[in-house]
Amino acid sequence: MQARIKAIRWEAEGILAFVLEPLGGGLMPAFEPGAHIDVQLAPGLTRSYSLANDPAIRGSYEIGVHFSPTSRGGSRHIHERWRAGDVIEISEPKNNFPLVEDATHTVLIAGGIGITPMLPMIARLNKLGRSWALHYVSASPERAAYVAHLEAHDGVIIAFDGVPGGQRLDLKAICDGAPADAHLYCCGPTGMLDAFVAINKDRPKDHVHIEYFSAETEVATEGGYTLELARSGQTIAVEEGETMLDALLSAGVDIGFACGEGVCGTCEVKVLDGIPDHRDHFLTDEDKASNRSIMVCCSGSKSSRLVLDI
Ligand code: FES
Repeated sequence: MQARIKAIRWEAEGILAFVLEPLGGGLMPAFEPGAHIDVQLAPGLTRSYSLANDPAIRGSYEIGVHFSPTSRGGSRHIHERWRAGDVIEISEPKNNFPLVEDATHTVLIAGGIGITPMLPMIARLNKLGRSWALHYVSASPERAAYVAHLEAHDGVIIAFDGVPGGQRLDLKAICDGAPADAHLYCCGPTGMLDAFVAINKDRPKDHVHIEYFSAETEVATEGGYTLELARSGQTIAVEEGETMLDALLSAGVDIGFACGEGVCGTCEVKVLDGIPDHRDHFLTDEDKASNRSIMVCCSGSKSSRLVLDI
């Protein structure tokens, strides 16, 4: 769908908030807390951003975009090119990080721009009168987004770990201190998420929720295997130096993708035969062990032939 950039707001050093409204007025499609949209930046360049506004606000969406100096084109494109009034292409909301609304207590943990999916969660939890706490870590006060909004709530702890005398977020103490039946959510850098998962390994899996916004993914480009597309009957060789996604796109297969690093879930394809070499951060360990699907943007194949349900 198309949306217009209604307003651009400076949120913090390196972070801009973009308010998007439907062309011609009306309402945006409804979304649940934790949802994201894919934003089409250019042909072949799509990125996912969490929706940051209260889901009860139906006339617009808000996304917060952190400029990454190592940007592969996404945040740089947005910060340098987007202007208020521009019309952009976005997807309908998708949710890989849903909120369990009837939890007895909810612990939200955010690192940096990982704060954005927590904002609609807070809005919903407040509306439902649920118990929650937020632990938010940023490098410095200057780089912390949405602080004024957060400080209006009880139960918010903000730490700055990149300034002299600053505080680190004690992830272990926070998680260990949460009630046994609490639901815990974490969105932040890869190292933080890996630590969060390790600390909570003994909690029920469906009480521990993570969302990667980027990852240090070792993308499979070894090639040397063949894809068989069961529906179209096509056979495609994946050569050394290219990803499975590269090979599919070069062969003219229309396949959706966004992050390109195995975190958003957009490029998931069912596997009918063969053994994938999973490199993503999206599928669970159980999903990976079952080999029923693959994220084609970053994963490869351990078998010489992989049969895909496309
Ligand atoms: S495009 Fe995001 S997981 Fe593959």
